[in-house]
Amino acid sequence: MAKHYFAAMTRNKTSLAGTGLVIGSLTLILSLIAIQMIGLRGGAYIGIITFVLLPMVLATGLVLIYVGIRRQRRLGESIGMKDAGAFPIVDLNQERTRKAILGVVGVGTVSAVVLAAATYKGVEVMDSTPFCGTVCHTVMQPEFTAHQRSPHARVACADCHIGPGADWFVKAKISGAWQLVAVAFNLYPTPIPTPVHNLRPARDTCEQCHWPTTHVGDLLKVKSVYTDDEANTELKTAVLLKVGGLAGREASGIHWHVNPDVQIRYRSSEDRQTIYDVELTQPDGTVKLFKPADETPEEASEWRTMDCIDCHNRPTHQYHLPMDEVDNAMAKGYMDKSLPFLKRESMKALEAQYNNHEEARAGISRQMHAFYQENYPEIADEKNAAIEQVIRELQVIYTSNVFPEMKVTWGTYPDNTQHFDSPGCWRCHDRKHKTDDGEKISRDCGMCHTILAQEEESPEILETLNP
Ligand code: HEC
Ligand code: HEC
Ligand code: HEC
Ligand code: HEC
Ligand code: HEC
Repeated sequence: MAKHYFAAMTRNKTSLAGTGLVIGSLTLILSLIAIQMIGLRGGAYIGIITFVLLPMVLATGLVLIYVGIRRQRRLGESIGMKDAGAFPIVDLNQERTRKAILGVVGVGTVSAVVLAAATYKGVEVMDSTPFCGTVCHTVMQPEFTAHQRSPHARVACADCHIGPGADWFVKAKISGAWQLVAVAFNLYPTPIPTPVHNLRPARDTCEQCHWPTTHVGDLLKVKSVYTDDEANTELKTAVLLKVGGLAGREASGIHWHVNPDVQIRYRSSEDRQTIYDVELTQPDGTVKLFKPADETPEEASEWRTMDCIDCHNRPTHQYHLPMDEVDNAMAKGYMDKSLPFLKRESMKALEAQYNNHEEARAGISRQMHAFYQENYPEIADEKNAAIEQVIRELQVIYTSNVFPEMKVTWGTYPDNTQHFDSPGCWRCHDRKHKTDDGEKISRDCGMCHTILAQEEESPEILETLNP
């Protein structure tokens, strides 16, 4: 019976081609799976090939075999042949036949191994950060640029977006294949929407490197802000953030939310910027439901379990506001603070409308030169190098945060670890969410931090810390 079948599969050219495709793709799929099983990491696209492309070839092969056999039958019947599906006789007693079979098997095996190795290498290249970030250049440019400036610049895209294990790998492959199509046909949205609804839970990505129970303790954050006046007066804010975490057996502070013993779930709007019901399950198993001020609307999302990403939604694609960027560059000495009205003029240059990066670079340069030449001709001469440096810095700031082609501008992507530029913590800690007993999610200013100084010229606390 099996013999009969094999003959039918190889008797005509169409079926023979089909059989070739089937054997070839099957061997490749099996080799690629074996390679991944012995622990070699092929990267993101090995899956597209193993699980999407090759199976398509396999299916085509099967269809060809079927079509060939049917054609052959019909042809045979039409000329009155009785035994239309019969076999060639394979006689292993004949040396010629034996050699032929050995040859086919030998060549087949070698080519399969070579092909698999080549595919493997190709995939490794495709999975690298430069590939993800630059092949779809315009589309991923904002995320890639921000990633390169972030503390995670050396962490590959796939480590957060795919993570380890086979099942997510397959999911990522399938969505990856769709993304390639979207890019090829310009079907992607601008800007790329956030949040990523099917992002893998942080447990399997972030927590591969960061323990949720690490005790961070109190974190002192000191920030300089410069005013709009001629002298760019510097004001300092110092906040002691109670990041906390698990110290001994006690969890406290901000990282209390990710203590493995508590669970917080919530329902929200599509963009997660408006949070409706919040459900807290405490270590002893009791559950509290905090309801929002208004009715939860129909279109509220499914319940989502809070993890790192509900606060750290910008761990690597960090975009900043012009104000923060300029303050930071001045504080770090990248821009010469002695230039009059530096803060005010930098803000103007950054916030002007430009259609693309080239226009922005030219515009920033023109405006800064014009301002100093018109108002402070001596300084423009004397400190030309410092002004050029300022211009280069502002150009980098602009081109790292604003991407007109992708409709990404200042503030397009909110950062949820704060409560100033977007609601952040105050999406829940708004004193409006309450249980039926009237218990509210707190917004007590002392719960998350101690404000040691707020926009002061020379805060006493910093004098004490850095005498
Ligand atoms: C440190 C982890 C990490 C790395 C590394 C990383 N991402 Fe992300 N990415 C995230 C998180 C977290 C989000 C936002 C999740 C959310 O809010 O749902 C995100 C969101 C995105 C988005 C959606 C738009 C947005 O900004 O929210 C794109 C596109 C993206 N990443 C592409 C990339 C590319 C390309 C790379 C490599 C150059 C990369 N990511 C590397 C963690 C990471
Ligand atoms: C491959 C390992 C790795 C993964 C995965 C990873 N991180 Fe990190 N992360 C690091 C390292 C290393 C640093 C320290 C970088 C430094 O100090 O320069 C860091 C730093 C941080 C910081 C402090 C950054 C700052 O602004 O000072 C935060 C917050 C953070 N990670 C959150 C996350 C989140 C959230 C995720 C998941 C989306 C994640 N990380 C995934 C390795 C990783
Ligand atoms: C409730 C919000 C929230 C959640 C949930 C959260 N974090 Fe944080 N985390 C913060 C804040 C706020 C800070 C300190 C301020 C900052 O870095 O912007 C911080 C700081 C950190 C730092 C930097 C500490 C340092 O010394 O600089 C790391 C690393 C970090 N978090 C990792 C994580 C990881 C991993 C998870 C998930 C297991 C997580 N966080 C969950 C809010 C949160
Ligand atoms: C999804 C809703 C939600 C978000 C977003 C959220 N929290 Fe919470 N948080 C809660 C709930 C619920 C509690 C428990 C009720 C309470 O203590 O008020 C809580 C408690 C806390 C506590 C007290 C923990 C303890 O020791 O008991 C701190 C500190 C805190 N949150 C900080 C933050 C910070 C900082 C952010 C923003 C970076 C934030 N939270 C964002 C829901 C949230
Ligand atoms: C749920 C936690 C939480 C509560 C409640 C809270 N804050 Fe904050 N606050 C934060 C976090 C997180 C930051 C971010 C610090 C950073 O990373 O820059 C912050 C930063 C600040 C800063 C420094 C801003 C800056 O310039 O960077 C000030 C000032 C501040 N908060 C004031 C307040 C006041 C006033 C209240 C009471 C109405 C309050 N906060 C309540 C979490 C909280």
